[in-house]
Amino acid sequence: MFQRFRRTRLNSHLRALVRETNVSVNDFIYPLFVRTGEGIKTEVASMPGVFQMSIDEVLKECDELKKLGLYSIILFGIPDVKDSIGSDSLCEHGIIAKAIRAVKEKHPDMFVVTDLCFCEYTDHGHCGIIDEENETVNNDATLEISGQQAVIHAKAGADMIAPSGMMDGIIETLRDALDAAGYENLPIMSYSTKFASGYYGPFRDVAESVPSFGDRATYQMDPANRKEAINESISDELQGADILMVKPALAYLDIVREIKDNTSLPMAVYNVSGEYAMLKMAGAQDLIDYDRVLMETMMSFKRAGADIIISYHAKEVAQMLQK
Ligand code: PBG
Ligand code: ZN
Repeated sequence: MFQRFRRTRLNSHLRALVRETNVSVNDFIYPLFVRTGEGIKTEVASMPGVFQMSIDEVLKECDELKKLGLYSIILFGIPDVKDSIGSDSLCEHGIIAKAIRAVKEKHPDMFVVTDLCFCEYTDHGHCGIIDEENETVNNDATLEISGQQAVIHAKAGADMIAPSGMMDGIIETLRDALDAAGYENLPIMSYSTKFASGYYGPFRDVAESVPSFGDRATYQMDPANRKEAINESISDELQGADILMVKPALAYLDIVREIKDNTSLPMAVYNVSGEYAMLKMAGAQDLIDYDRVLMETMMSFKRAGADIIISYHAKEVAQMLQK
């Protein structure tokens, strides 16, 4: 038998030809936080480079994104008024519906994904309706109004709905609600495996959605559980999800790979706010070579099996890829 002693050294050209994983601007969805008002662009202290914006600023931002080749965004609404059921998200004149309509009108070529949840819209900051007596989220009551929120997004012109609240049965509920309203072809990207994670800290500042009591561990997943993580995603696939997601990304790449090997659906990762903040802060202090670590991180998501990367770094990555 032939015994190979030495591997041929490839030059950089051939290394590029045979590279197994590539990061492209087409892989990214960029998150945007929209609030009412005009001319508002407020930077988030814990996330340098990330802003709360009024709709007019979001429209300008879309011009910038398109110049970079970024055509996909995910929108989060921050309402003026929050209440116990998140009414602002259930109304055609609420912030998220207005923002979707404005973006699709000015930028029909942008692909607009919408985060479907209640924590940004409720005064208690939880992802659904609360049962007063035991202070827990009522899963089935939340399902009912989730269907309404999905139809509001759809009517406003959303291109894809992304439920992030981790309610049981949410995908089936949304599919039924969208179909019944005539949106049979509107895809659903499920936050199917979402862990109860400390990495969401900075997001809750920007979305102003820190829970006023308790935490989200009753509906989000235990970071210790691998099999449960796989089951949650496969259950969403069976209910009709079009795209599965693992969130956060970096600390859960084993889960990404394992789900990828067990599904034929496309997969997304959410490179969350805490991951962004860590890299930014380390870079700002020159503790790491920021650009290099950033690309290495994005590459790791693709290598683990992600097709889509939702990331606050998307613009920086696009700039680096243009060079
Ligand atoms: C809403 C939602 C959250 C994120 C995306 N959608 C926050 C949460 O569950 O607390 C987190 C994103 C991030 O940290 O960047 N359910
Ligand atoms: Zn939520």
